[in-house]
Amino acid sequence: MAIVSLGGLLYLLPPLCCGLFFALRVIQLHVAKHNRRKAVLDELKATDPERKRLIGFFHPYCNAGGGGERVLWTAIAMLQRSEPDVVNVVYTGDIDVTKAQIIERVKARFDIELAPSSLHFVFLHSRYLVEDTTWRRFTLLGQSIGSMYLAWEAMSKLVPDLYIDTMGYAFTFPVVRWLALTKVGAYVHYPTISTDMLERVRSRRAWHTNSGAIASSAVLSKAKLLYYRMFMFYYTGCLRTASFLMVNSSWTKNHVDAVLQHTDPLLSSLHILGLLLPASAARTARIVYPPCDTRDLATFPLEGRERVIFSLAQFRPEKDHPAQLRAFHRVLADHPEYAKPGPLQVRLVMMGGSRNAEDAARIDALRELARELGIEEHVEIIINASYPQMLNWLSRASIGLSTMVDEHFGINVVEFMAAGVIPVTHASGGPLNDIVVPFNGSPTGFHATSPETFAEAFHKVLTLSPEEEVNLRSRARTWAVQRFSEEEFEKGWNESGWQQTLRG
Ligand SMILES: *[C@@H]1O[C@H](CO)[C@@H](O)[C@H](O)[C@H]1NC(C)=O
Ligand SMILES: *[C@@H]1O[C@H](CO)[C@@H](O)[C@H](O)[C@H]1NC(C)=O
Ligand SMILES: *[C@@H]1O[C@H](CO)[C@@H](O)[C@H](O)[C@H]1NC(C)=O
Repeated sequence: MAIVSLGGLLYLLPPLCCGLFFALRVIQLHVAKHNRRKAVLDELKATDPERKRLIGFFHPYCNAGGGGERVLWTAIAMLQRSEPDVVNVVYTGDIDVTKAQIIERVKARFDIELAPSSLHFVFLHSRYLVEDTTWRRFTLLGQSIGSMYLAWEAMSKLVPDLYIDTMGYAFTFPVVRWLALTKVGAYVHYPTISTDMLERVRSRRAWHTNSGAIASSAVLSKAKLLYYRMFMFYYTGCLRTASFLMVNSSWTKNHVDAVLQHTDPLLSSLHILGLLLPASAARTARIVYPPCDTRDLATFPLEGRERVIFSLAQFRPEKDHPAQLRAFHRVLADHPEYAKPGPLQVRLVMMGGSRNAEDAARIDALRELARELGIEEHVEIIINASYPQMLNWLSRASIGLSTMVDEHFGINVVEFMAAGVIPVTHASGGPLNDIVVPFNGSPTGFHATSPETFAEAFHKVLTLSPEEEVNLRSRARTWAVQRFSEEEFEKGWNESGWQQTLRG
């Protein structure tokens, strides 16, 4: 008996101790919550501190100046305008800069004006834990556990009333939800792991995160599959703790929704936590497109365009520039009048950045291909153009060409449309699903898949009547400016449910 009860005690002791430890920590956090909140509101000299609500944005790289940061600052500036009772808290690992410096950089980089009075920064010292250089092996797992620790640091410094992750650290959700007892939401740019990735490991296909050596060994492959399955299992559980989820495009929505719906019966039945996994609050993610700055572009004239097909893309392999030359070759072959000097003559202008020797080699190969196809005198390649040069071509060109297959988004296509340039894009990804879609039942551009169909689309645009042409340009512009505007972004946030989550 004694041995049995001793065994029972030993068995129960660790979970009891853990439980006690966590309960103490939760109490500690909540005692601290009140004090820290008061200190922050005092520092900001907030009037009516009782009414204030703290929204915490988890963005450890908030000073990076990329697309994700533009979304963050646009959202905060919007809340500062429309929600006087909200204090925006940014959790960042940029410990080498000050609040004033960050605000200044946001103004310089994005032209976004932030009011210091309702903005507070919490500086985190353990950001190195989410850097991929810290985790040479098991990077996904290491970074995820690191992010949980980072979130713990964040919560022990200040507990907000609502937590919004804007950088894709889903593993922080349970820490915030269950230790800081704070509701969670997120704006997701990119899924940490996708069901496609899992399928790839399952089918043992070599791919970029799945090196050839591993794919060739059955045992390693099984181990890797188990690792990914467990990772997916927990990722799904974490995402489901969110009360609302926003995503930046339909591509991301498809992936995040697949993760939310993902089930792994074996792992759930094996795992006691499977029982505790919350029924999802956010069953599907909502698309809230990031706003694009189209102010300059939308002023360009719609009439008097030159017969120029304009491509704007870095000379990277996935952009598929050779397909552009083949399509252009096709349209010149089908309509020889487009190659003859005169009013009908058409040119192809390819503009893009060249980052390195590989890009430069690709550009040489493109010139070579143009020579082989006999179209080199009709093609102009412009490398590393300046911003004004780019605007200049956007104000003159007729057609905007994009040939990338399965592009996640395609900001260049939005720019074409806002500038009044009629887009002709590959029929896939963002350009098909998000951007070049009918507006009020009428088309805003064209899609194609082969040199023949691209050539047909060019021909269609080049033979529009002047009236049809201006209508199409104007429709494309109105649509792009509207859909990717700040108002639309604001509407998406308003409808995401964050206000209900904060109050509920
Ligand atoms: C969404 O985020 C991903 C990752 O940063 C990016 O590649 C994609 O272009 C973004 N989409 C939009 C619509 O900005
Ligand atoms: C384009 O810019 C990159 C770096 O920004 C540079 O390495 C490259 O040499 C430039 N290429 C040309 C043709 O100017
Ligand atoms: C979003 O909600 C705020 C108030 O909560 C309101 O002032 C604003 O006009 C709304 N914006 C849009 C685009 O609906």
